[in-house]
Amino acid sequence: MATVRVDCINKVFNTPTGPQTVLDNISFEVADQSFLSLVGPSGCGKTTLLNIISGIETSTSGSVVMNENGKAAKLAYVFQEPRLLPWRSVFDNLMYVQPVRNEAARERVNAALTRVGLAHAAKKWPGQLSGGQQQRIGIARAFSVEPDVLLMDEPFSHLDAITARGLREHLQELWAHTRKTVIFVTHDVSEAAELSDRILMLAPGGRIHEDIEVSLPRPRRASDPEVAILEASVLRRFEDLEASTKQEAAQHLAQSA
Ligand SMILES: Nc1ncnc2c1ncn2[C@@H]1O[C@H](COP(=O)(O)OP(=O)(O)OP(=O)(O)O)[C@@H](O)[C@H]1O
Ligand SMILES: [Mg+2]
Repeated sequence: MATVRVDCINKVFNTPTGPQTVLDNISFEVADQSFLSLVGPSGCGKTTLLNIISGIETSTSGSVVMNENGKAAKLAYVFQEPRLLPWRSVFDNLMYVQPVRNEAARERVNAALTRVGLAHAAKKWPGQLSGGQQQRIGIARAFSVEPDVLLMDEPFSHLDAITARGLREHLQELWAHTRKTVIFVTHDVSEAAELSDRILMLAPGGRIHEDIEVSLPRPRRASDPEVAILEASVLRRFEDLEASTKQEAAQHLAQSA
């Protein structure tokens, strides 16, 4: 039972031009075995929020509690780039993150590589693999530690559309098989519609704008009509948000003139 509770998170960065509020009173709870996406325009605080959830970054106020049956949950993080160690083989990259490097760890690593279809690449160097294959290794590395909670920050955004589509389908299969609790950051609304049980829309200024439950059947593809309808509906909400933000800014300007 891995749940994540984010409670009243605020984040203010001190910048040369003064304090900048990046996250504004963010609260939500992620249910066990669910797939939540955080979606929003560039700069709205998605990575900062994921970093605070993971503990890489501290919040200015608020708290994050991650529980797995009353214990602290085990985390894994998949970054935008695979971040593999180039001087270690693929197999050794995965072994490197194992808490104990014993026979059971070797079996977990082999199983994780098999699940992403890259068992044959175990002895290769990361530099001998394509970008998409390296990202699959990054995903296998995260799954190989058998985390309770998986955090992913735009893991497919550097890849071409066809490779990204294949990896999304792959991720859905892995997730269906393991049912990790996932928090997935993306600015790609289609990706969020295809993968998520729930979409949290973040607005500029680091506020939650909308919390959307997704109950479409699985497995899904980006080309499914229901996924396309959901994508259009979320995009429409972003357009409405953008229009109202512009209107507020214009009113503000008119009042101060
Ligand atoms: N260490 C820092 N110091 C000061 N400001 C920062 C720092 N890290 C991030 N910011 C600012 O916080 C805001 C949110 O950044 P963040 O990287 O979380 O956005 P994002 O939603 O992940 O954007 P993108 O989609 O482009 O990755 C930005 O305005 C950024 O400039
Ligand atoms: Mg980011």
